[in-house]
Amino acid sequence: MSKPNERAVQRRWDWHYPLMARAEGIYLWDADGRRYIDGSGGSSVVTAIGHGVREIPEAMARQAKDYAFYPAHAFSNPKLLELADLIAEIAPGELRNRCKTWMTVTGSDATDDASRLARQYWVVKGKPSKHIILGRWQAFHGDNIFAVSISGLSARRRLFTPMFRDMPKIPPAFCYRCYFEKTHPGCGLLCARVLEDAICQSGPENVAAFIAEPVVGSALAACPAPEGYFEVIREICDRYEVLFIADEVMTALGRTGKMWGIEHWDATPDIIALSKALTGGHYPVAAVVAREELWETLRAANAHFRAGHTLNASVIGMVAAIETIRYIQKHNLVENARVVGAYFLERLHELLAYRTVGDVRGLGLMVGVEFVADKETKAPFPPEREISNLFSRFTFERGLITYPCAGTVRGVAGDTILMAPPLITTREQIDEIMAILHESVRAFEVEML
Ligand SMILES: Cc1ncc(COP(=O)(O)O)c(C=O)c1O
Repeated sequence: MSKPNERAVQRRWDWHYPLMARAEGIYLWDADGRRYIDGSGGSSVVTAIGHGVREIPEAMARQAKDYAFYPAHAFSNPKLLELADLIAEIAPGELRNRCKTWMTVTGSDATDDASRLARQYWVVKGKPSKHIILGRWQAFHGDNIFAVSISGLSARRRLFTPMFRDMPKIPPAFCYRCYFEKTHPGCGLLCARVLEDAICQSGPENVAAFIAEPVVGSALAACPAPEGYFEVIREICDRYEVLFIADEVMTALGRTGKMWGIEHWDATPDIIALSKALTGGHYPVAAVVAREELWETLRAANAHFRAGHTLNASVIGMVAAIETIRYIQKHNLVENARVVGAYFLERLHELLAYRTVGDVRGLGLMVGVEFVADKETKAPFPPEREISNLFSRFTFERGLITYPCAGTVRGVAGDTILMAPPLITTREQIDEIMAILHESVRAFEVEML
C-alpha cells in the first residue's frame, strides 16, 4: 500500500498523517493504537453525535439492501419526503412547517444553491437585475468557485480571484478586532448597519441576497455575532427587498446550544444552508431550507429550480440524516451542547493567562482560541510562521485534534484554532481537553517563542 501523498493526495504535503483505525464516542485511534480526542468534530464540526453509533450504519445498510440509488429525474422516495418533513418540523422561527427543502451533497453546494435560489426567485418575480450576493470579509461559505466569490478569506481566495466575478463584502461582526474600533453595545452595531450602505452602493435593484454565518466558523474560529446583530440585518434586508441567507453549515442541529445558530437572535432567515452535522459524517448530504413562498413563486411560474447534481439527495444519505436528527433529539444533545459548551467556554478563559492567547470565544460546543504575538496591541504572528498549524501539532502530539485556522487579520494573518467536539461530550471530557490545552500552550511557548 502506498503512503499518504504518494498516490492519494492529502490536504497538506508537510503533515505526518497517521492511519486511522477505529473510533468510538469522542475518541479515535490510529493504526499504532494511539488514542486522540476528536476535538474539532472531524475536520471542523461534522461529527455531531460522535463515533460508533450503530443504529446509523445499520439503518443505512438496510436501505442499501432495498435499493442504494434511485433515478431522481423520474422518481421520489419515502426517505427524501420523510427528511423534508422532519426538517420542516424543527425549522427555526417563521420557517417552522412553512418551508421546503432541497437536498444536495456538500456544504459548498448548499451555499451555491441557496444563491441560485435567491437569483432565480427574483428573476421569476420580475426583478431580473437582482444578482449580487453580498457577503462579509472573514467568512467562509465553501470551496467551489462561486462559494469562494462570496467568501471573504483572502488567503483562500487570491489564487482564484481571476476566475470569478467577485461579490461585494461588508466587515465581519468581530468584536475582538472591531473594524470600527468600537465596543459592543455602545458601538450601535455599526457592523450590521453598514449593510445598508453596501446595498445602496450596489443599488438595491441589483442585490439578491446577503449571506452570513450566525457564528463564523473556520474564518474567525467560532465568533458569534453580537446581541442584536441579526435583528438589524433582517430589518435592512426587508427594507431593501434583499433575501437573508443564513449559512448554518457549521451551526445547525444543536452545535451552538440551540437547534439552529440563528435562534440566538430574533430573526428568521429566508434561506438556510446546512450540511456537516446533518448526517454526522456518515454520508455527504447538504440541504437548502427556504421559505415556502420562494419555492411557490417558482412553482407558480413552472420554473424548475436550476440546480442539481447527479448524486443529490442520495437515499442512503437521507436515511443517515433522518437517523442522525432523531438521535440528536432522543439524546437531548442540543441541551448537552448548551450546558457543556458553557462550561468549556468558562474553562477556556483560563488560557488567557498565557502570553500568546489573545482571545477565547464561542457559543455552545463551538469554541475558538486566538493567538497573538503581543497581547496589548493584538499584533498577530507573521503569517509565514503558520502558528495555528504549529500549535495544532502540539495538541495532536498530546492526543487532541484541533482545527487550525488563519486570517482574522485582513484574511491573511491572525492565528486561531477551532474546537467543536461531538455534542455528546461530557464535563469530564472537557477537563481532559483542557488539561491537554494547558500542557500544549505551555510547551508551545517554551519551544516556539
Ligand atoms: C460555514 C460553512 N459554509 C460552507 C462550508 C462548505 O462546506 P463543504 O466543505 O461541505 O463544501 C463550510 C465548510 O467548512 C462552512 O464552514
